[in-house]
Amino acid sequence: MRTLTVLGLETSCDETAAAVVRGFPPGPGEILSDVVFSQLEEHRPFGGVVPEIAARAHVELIDGIVARALDEAKLTLAQIDAVAATAGPGLIGGVMVGLLTGKALAVAAGKPLVAVNHLEGHGFSARLATGVAFPYLLLLVSGGHCQLLGVEGPGRFRLYGTTIDDAAGEAFDKTAKLLNLPYPGGPRIEILAREGNPARYALPRPMRGREGADFSFSGLKTAVRQLIQNNAVETVDVAASFQAAVIDILIDRSAAAMAMFRRDFPETAEPAFVVGGGVAANGAIRAALADLAGQEGFGFAVPPVKLCTDNAAMIAWAGIENAALGRFDPLDAPARARWPL
Ligand code: KG4
Ligand code: ZN
Repeated sequence: MRTLTVLGLETSCDETAAAVVRGFPPGPGEILSDVVFSQLEEHRPFGGVVPEIAARAHVELIDGIVARALDEAKLTLAQIDAVAATAGPGLIGGVMVGLLTGKALAVAAGKPLVAVNHLEGHGFSARLATGVAFPYLLLLVSGGHCQLLGVEGPGRFRLYGTTIDDAAGEAFDKTAKLLNLPYPGGPRIEILAREGNPARYALPRPMRGREGADFSFSGLKTAVRQLIQNNAVETVDVAASFQAAVIDILIDRSAAAMAMFRRDFPETAEPAFVVGGGVAANGAIRAALADLAGQEGFGFAVPPVKLCTDNAAMIAWAGIENAALGRFDPLDAPARARWPL
């Protein structure tokens, strides 16, 4: 069987990451190395990611991270087939560092370049893990995005719904800040929610039952703020009540998108519901979405937790998906702060 071996680079936010993945669509792929350095400690004093600090840290770290990824894969640059680097969307300083590094490595090794859309990386990571077939319905839930998409292949997406304000991960992070929890808030809220009563506080579920599959989270955040400002609250119960509201919203909007997907792809006998992005690391959310898929007659695929949050293995895999179709990019491929699917 034909395989491709790709070096991936990821620098769009506060993770400096490099990985080597081997495989061929539809997957699963073999992760030969997966090095992720989180700059968390550098940003924590500021309560969020500081773009300038992130870009400088990427510059300092990227060479060593790439060397480690190749070393752990026991490969030299000469033995890889292509270099894949995140070209956006993200914090532009960091994106430029990773993309320029990828270009330099590609030139030096005489290998082709794939300029990867970070969202495509999240959206295909379940294929890297499980080999789930196209087309599928994707719920992409991260710190910057919250979308429901029909996915037919690289560059082939149908948007069913998107957030009209905050992303789901952003809602987790902002709620955590209101509760004086350190950044990033998602994982902390998940842990606290396990100890809390999800029915303790009544919080809104914006957009639930609305036509279409769009999301809104800002009303939920505002309700949490008012709750905390006006009452002596129990932190674990706020966390549990907030997470329960997010789950209800995700379930309602995903169910609506499932109907849209079935209408668009009636010939897909066993459609799959796929989840990706940092919020998909949340165990309660994964379980609730798996239940929904079962009830609606959809298969379910979600990457392991390590492939949900930002990493370079998913970028290498998106590189493989594109390279397998002969989709490469020129050396003047731009770094983009915004780049919708
Ligand atoms: O995909 P990602 O690593 O970066 C982006 O591309 O945005 O997602 C980061 C987001 C953050 O908002 C973080 O709080 C959230 O994912 N997150 C979680 C969990 N782990 C990370 N949210 C809820 N529960 C978690 N366990
Ligand atoms: Zn991401």
